[in-house]
Amino acid sequence: MEVKTSLLDNMIGVGDMVLLEPLTEDSFIENLRNRFDHNEIYTYIGSVVISMNPYRSLPIFTPEKVEEYRNRNFYELSPHIYALADEAYRSLRDQDKDQCILITGESGAGKTEASKLVMSYVAAVCGKGQEVNKVKEQLLQSNPVLEAFGNAKTVRNDNSSRFGKYMDIEFDFKGDPVGGVISNYLLEKSRVVKQPRGERNFHIFYQLLSGASDDTLRKLKLDRDFSKYNYLSLDSANVNGLDDAANFRTVRNAMQIVGFMEDEVQSVLELVAAVLKLGNIEFKPESRSNGYDESRVKDKNDLKEMCELLGIEQSVLERAFSYRTVEAKLEKVSTTLNVSQAYYARDALAKNLYSRLFSWLVTRINESIKAQSKTRHKVMGVLDIYGFEIFEDNSFEQFIINYCNEKLQQIFIELTLREEQEEYIREDIEWTNIEYFNNAVICDLIENNQNGILAMLDEECLRPGTVTDITFLDKLNTVCAEHQHFESRLSKNSKFLTDHSLPHSCFRIQHYAGKVLYRVEGFMDKNNDLLYRDLSQAMYKANHKLIKQLFPEGNPAKVNLKRPPTAGFQFKHSVGTLMRNLQTKNPNYIRCVKPNDKKAPRIFTDSLVRHQVAYLGLMENVRVRRAGYAYRQAYEPCLERYKMLCKQTWPHWKGPTREGVEVLMADLQVSTEEFAYGNSKIFIRNPRTLFSLEEKRRGCLENLAALIQKIYRGWKCRTHFLLLKHSQVVVAAWYRRYAQQKKYTQIKSATIMVQSYSRGWKARKILRELKHQKRCEEAATTIAAYWHGTQARRELRRLKEEARNKHAVSVIWAGWQGTKARRELKRLKKEARRRHAVAVIWAYWLGLKVRREYRKFFRANAGRKIYSFIMQRLMQKYFLGLKRDLPSMSPIGGSWPTRPYRFLDTAHTELRSIFHHWRCKKYRSRFTDERKAVFEEKLQASEIFKDKKALYPSSVGQPFRGDYLEISKNPKYQKLSSAMDEKVLLADVVNKINRANGKGTARIFLLTKNNFVLADQKTGQVKASVPLPDLASISVSTQNDGFFALKLKEGSAGATKGDFLLSSEHLIEIITKLRRTGATAVNHDHLDIDISDEFLVQFKQDKVCVKFVQGAPKNGNGASCKRKNNRLLEVSVPSTA
Ligand SMILES: Nc1ncnc2c1ncn2[C@@H]1O[C@H](COP(=O)(O)OP(=O)(O)OP(=O)(O)O)[C@@H](O)[C@H]1O
Ligand SMILES: [Mg+2]
Repeated sequence: MEVKTSLLDNMIGVGDMVLLEPLTEDSFIENLRNRFDHNEIYTYIGSVVISMNPYRSLPIFTPEKVEEYRNRNFYELSPHIYALADEAYRSLRDQDKDQCILITGESGAGKTEASKLVMSYVAAVCGKGQEVNKVKEQLLQSNPVLEAFGNAKTVRNDNSSRFGKYMDIEFDFKGDPVGGVISNYLLEKSRVVKQPRGERNFHIFYQLLSGASDDTLRKLKLDRDFSKYNYLSLDSANVNGLDDAANFRTVRNAMQIVGFMEDEVQSVLELVAAVLKLGNIEFKPESRSNGYDESRVKDKNDLKEMCELLGIEQSVLERAFSYRTVEAKLEKVSTTLNVSQAYYARDALAKNLYSRLFSWLVTRINESIKAQSKTRHKVMGVLDIYGFEIFEDNSFEQFIINYCNEKLQQIFIELTLREEQEEYIREDIEWTNIEYFNNAVICDLIENNQNGILAMLDEECLRPGTVTDITFLDKLNTVCAEHQHFESRLSKNSKFLTDHSLPHSCFRIQHYAGKVLYRVEGFMDKNNDLLYRDLSQAMYKANHKLIKQLFPEGNPAKVNLKRPPTAGFQFKHSVGTLMRNLQTKNPNYIRCVKPNDKKAPRIFTDSLVRHQVAYLGLMENVRVRRAGYAYRQAYEPCLERYKMLCKQTWPHWKGPTREGVEVLMADLQVSTEEFAYGNSKIFIRNPRTLFSLEEKRRGCLENLAALIQKIYRGWKCRTHFLLLKHSQVVVAAWYRRYAQQKKYTQIKSATIMVQSYSRGWKARKILRELKHQKRCEEAATTIAAYWHGTQARRELRRLKEEARNKHAVSVIWAGWQGTKARRELKRLKKEARRRHAVAVIWAYWLGLKVRREYRKFFRANAGRKIYSFIMQRLMQKYFLGLKRDLPSMSPIGGSWPTRPYRFLDTAHTELRSIFHHWRCKKYRSRFTDERKAVFEEKLQASEIFKDKKALYPSSVGQPFRGDYLEISKNPKYQKLSSAMDEKVLLADVVNKINRANGKGTARIFLLTKNNFVLADQKTGQVKASVPLPDLASISVSTQNDGFFALKLKEGSAGATKGDFLLSSEHLIEIITKLRRTGATAVNHDHLDIDISDEFLVQFKQDKVCVKFVQGAPKNGNGASCKRKNNRLLEVSVPSTA
């Protein structure tokens, strides 16, 4: 069971100052001290949390504590910052009210730590999930990055925020964070170039030098030694408890989580390094002829390194440190800078560079953490602004910081004190007025548009003529002299004429938190925030992406002669926007108090705390809370929230809401002192009354939930039951159907069985009767048949006897007729034989007679003659047939008539060969000498290239034309033609390959009997003329390309320029001609032709290897040559596949 606790349980002192008795300043401080001594650093004033800085880590921020405070009522547990964070988060999530958490207090009071505690609490209690966790992580990790660049050690705080920060965390309807937006306010940039005694520059400088690796430092041209940098103060370079190196790693890691790219981090570090380098640039005077001194950079090494880091041209920056260009409307005037002006320019550049880098970081973080969806989100704003500051020497920055704190105090007063009182009056609630100090008058002194200090400062900055910080003070002395919170020695107010604590160059303001003396020196400069245009232009010219982005006004195309708004104006404007934003949100206050000035734990300095309690207006705050009512709510939401507690109002109240609330309160029997009815709201005096209402509501809600649950469960069970019932009916119906079906089938089969038995019996009976009937019929038939048979046999026997008698007569007749016929046949045969014999004897006799007659006409060798005659006839017929069927005269014709007789086999083959030789001879005899030469060339080409170079087959069909350029006829080549004193055997355009890049240059290639010549294609000018005897060999590849190298003999005149690597479409022809002509000129049998895919070519001094490789198949494009390295040219030949 949950244990009910209360703020009042185990309370040390009083947890809520509203309950303090008696209420005096002493008892207030005593209560704070008592609680502080017992490690109770948080105390409430109603819903406001007072936070004392413990200056040591207490075990009250553990995950267990987070769980303890999660979803608990504000007053339920002892005071804690987590209770406030939980309250704000829940009313954001459940009531859809935007929240803001205002954390105030002086420097070192613990505002930044408090803001981080709030953020980490919210991160711990809100939803989880991969995406949500990423957003949370990014939001939390933005803190270390901004602290490294925006915090520094001051005398008051080792980690003092030197900028104001307001962060809006956006949540979706479930209360899960979806993103955030950070706004930053005026970074104290003067710290970059100068730090007061005992203070440090921004942490990042020390972190970079201590934590970066040697390699990174080398790249950034930095040295680990702090003492090498003018901008780093040395007296407090190392701070106790601050590990700069470890923090640097944390910052790098955080940047990575937030989403910075590696090159962005590098750019940021380069800029930080550049600021350090800038600080080391020193100047010396150089006298000019006009008597003025001009500044010159003393030692250019740092300048050079800085320019290298940022990619700036050294001379540009150097000039910007020596000259200043002033642009009026149409004029540009360049003036020289003296040494002090140069230092001023250098520091202004460093300050601007750093502060712009800081603003860029905020924008970049915002880009990473911004919510993805555009829908309206619930927002929780956390404001952590620099605390109120009083130093020995207060300048423009302190003035601005304290002004901001005045505004925050104002909004606090507005919303808590004034609003509270005004609300009671508005609501007609009885009220005793509480006096409190309203600091609106101080805000007015500073920000009034007509005569406020900021307006005066701007007016003075814009005024023509000589304006100085002193003229500004004079102006203040006249305008603000009467103001009760303004003090100055020279003002008309005689009260301060003799006040020696007030120097002449200062003015003093009585802030709500105390009097602060401001030294006017530097006010004008800092407000103007002037950076010479030459410097911004030099920065814009930098070859560094980030720096160019930071100085957009340096773009010469966008020269703007208008003055940029002053620092004061900008700050006032952004503070105004912030205040308006805060007013739209539900405020939650954390008032941070610093227990001592020593940054030490367990020390409670009474006077210091008393001072803070006074100026924070905490006493007034308690008084107002005590006099008033702790809680109020409009009637409608109140009735809506608690209407379930009363039967009359539940579930709907028909009448006016106020009456409804009255009925409700009466029904609940709340004592009448505990609440009051306002015009539109009910006011509840005591938080406990509210808690008891809440408690009852929660109980009631539980009952309602139980009711809903009961009805739902009933509905669910009923639905389930109905479903089961329906299913049962369906199942039963199906079963019955099945059973009936089965029974029916059984009956049906039994019936069929009975039926078949009865039918069988009937059929058998009929069958028996039919069989008997049939047998009777058969018996009668058999008897009749036997009778008829006997009758028939008897008839047959009679008929047979009769027939036998008739047959005997006819047989005897036939026998007689036959004998007669045979005798006649025998006679006829004898007669015929005799006639045939006579005819044969006659024929023989005639033959004998003929032979005897003709024998006298024939000689003894007549047979051979007849044989030869027949042979002659056959041969004649063969030759005539051959003549008629002769095949074509083409030497390549393959047909030949078929052989008619086998005995002609040899002659036929022989004749075929003779005929072929003869037609070849005929064919040859038709050739002219030129044609003969052409064929000889083709023959030679075949000898050289056939089966050796893939290009060869495509060249066979192409005639060798020789003079492709028609060199003698073409007027363009007239000059070249006349320079040739020999007949041109070949003229063609070839590509001469350039060794340097493998590209070809068109050249005219001419071959004469003794030389080959290369000439310029356009001008015809002879580039090289080489006698053929100087040609040693030719190299070509085995592939389908036109590349060939003409290699010259070593030591020959032409060889000085080296070999020629050429390419031609007519490679086969060129090389064949070169070989033919070369062979005659050289007078030896042949010129070497080397065919291989890798050969060396001598270019002047170097030998270069030309290598042929198979490329991918291509359409149209031929081989391409590329230079791979000094010694290798690669020719890629598209494969023909
Ligand atoms: N709750 C805390 N627990 C432990 N130490 C704390 C706590 N709050 C503050 N401190 C200590 O006090 C120091 C100063 O706190 P913090 O930086 O939050 O002050 P601040 O109010 O933001 O001051 P400034 O206005 O100068 O930025 C911290 O560095 C830390 O050492
Ligand atoms: Mg801070």
